[in-house]
Amino acid sequence: MTKIPHRLYLTEDQMPKQWFNLRAVMKEQPDPMLHPATLQPMTERDLYPIFCEELARQELDETHAYIDIPEEIQEIYKMYRPSPLIRAYALEKALGTPAKIYYKFEGNNTSGSHKLNSAVAQAYYAKQQGLSGVTTETGAGQWGTALSEACSYFDLTCDVFMVKCSYEQKPFRKAVMRVFDGSITPSPSTTTEVGRKILAEHPDTTGSLGCAISEAVEAAVKSNGSKRYVLGSVLNQVLLHQSIIGLESKIAMEQLNEYPDIVIGCAGGGSNLGGLIAPFMADKITGKSNPRIIAVEPASCPSLTRGKYAYDFCDTGKVTPMARMYTLGCGFIPSANHAGGLRYHGMSPILSKLYHDGYMEAVSYEQTKVFDAAVLFAKRETILPAPESAHAIRCAIDEALKCKESGEAKTILFGLTGTGYFDMVAYENYLNGNMNDYIPTDADLQVGFNSLPDIPQNKNI
Ligand SMILES: Cc1ncc(COP(=O)(O)O)c(C=O)c1O
Repeated sequence: MTKIPHRLYLTEDQMPKQWFNLRAVMKEQPDPMLHPATLQPMTERDLYPIFCEELARQELDETHAYIDIPEEIQEIYKMYRPSPLIRAYALEKALGTPAKIYYKFEGNNTSGSHKLNSAVAQAYYAKQQGLSGVTTETGAGQWGTALSEACSYFDLTCDVFMVKCSYEQKPFRKAVMRVFDGSITPSPSTTTEVGRKILAEHPDTTGSLGCAISEAVEAAVKSNGSKRYVLGSVLNQVLLHQSIIGLESKIAMEQLNEYPDIVIGCAGGGSNLGGLIAPFMADKITGKSNPRIIAVEPASCPSLTRGKYAYDFCDTGKVTPMARMYTLGCGFIPSANHAGGLRYHGMSPILSKLYHDGYMEAVSYEQTKVFDAAVLFAKRETILPAPESAHAIRCAIDEALKCKESGEAKTILFGLTGTGYFDMVAYENYLNGNMNDYIPTDADLQVGFNSLPDIPQNKNI
């Protein structure tokens, strides 16, 4: 038998030419997004003031399983994809596990994460529609970087509202965005009505993705039609674009005659996880196979593990449509932990529905345990992981250690979404013993739940 290589790269012509829309195979659909004023399901037209038209269509598409990736997008993907599927031989050895651990590494592009997969697609459709630019939010900064990069490629302006604590902690992320002509405002800011309102109510807030989304949506809606809002996670369209991760992984594993027993991903708003699991979840739903699928979130922002399955606004300022999802309440302001990209109050409606229906598991970890795993991984596999990605590493290590106890040689696949070179303050805190593990109390969470919309659809939560 030939030895499985350390890294497997598909060739360009083996790369998927279509994205995969998981909703087309789901037995039950996620509940529809609701118009905040009428509480009626949002139509494609209702979405036009916020999203590009093609993206609005993708957002509501629950019938087409495969959607062609426009050639221009395929060409850009080829500049940084396919991403490698890596066999973690050194980590396996360090753990002494019989498990076979694979990871799909998405950090090998300037933005440093998987976010570029959707940024390129969204910028492309904005250009096609003749817009002058887009507005967005960014938490950890990876999405803002990826979108600035994609917008500069298509000559679009890119206005980024960056969560204030990340803005302060990560000056070099800002510099990268500026290289690509992104314009960055710390959020909450005084440049929008909703930002001023949030600041009046919480003058000391370090911000949240929910606040930044409200500001970015307002900036797009007030642009006289020249800009649209784009989001880096949560939405169905973003999971669709990220399906490239799972599709490539599946083709690569097939070439190795492998199939995962367990698929693991970190979950902020759910885009990398939704993309990685898409083809494997389809197999599970249609009964072809039965992998375990695990979402990993921070204990400080536990939307799946401790949230409620309810209709909620996607933002803090309550300007977006409402989605039914696992949520901590749009008024939940997470503590300033170091996995900025996982600090979102809600979860993708697709993943929420799959979790609710028992197709997926979820676990949460405190940050010091996550950084223990990050450092071990860096030493063995020589990649410094993003704190967000390290959540998936932690879980993969724990599953591999369970295999060591049971003697089972399970095949584990996890998503390594990005690199952590802009997260050195977090690594330093960890190495100096200055990292604390904040876990919200039930009373803390209740404050967020109190902000859930009081609508008939939420009566029985
Ligand atoms: C490196 C990295 N991984 C994961 C995430 C989480 O996002 P999502 O759940 O949409 O994949 C982020 C978000 O910023 C990120 O930067």
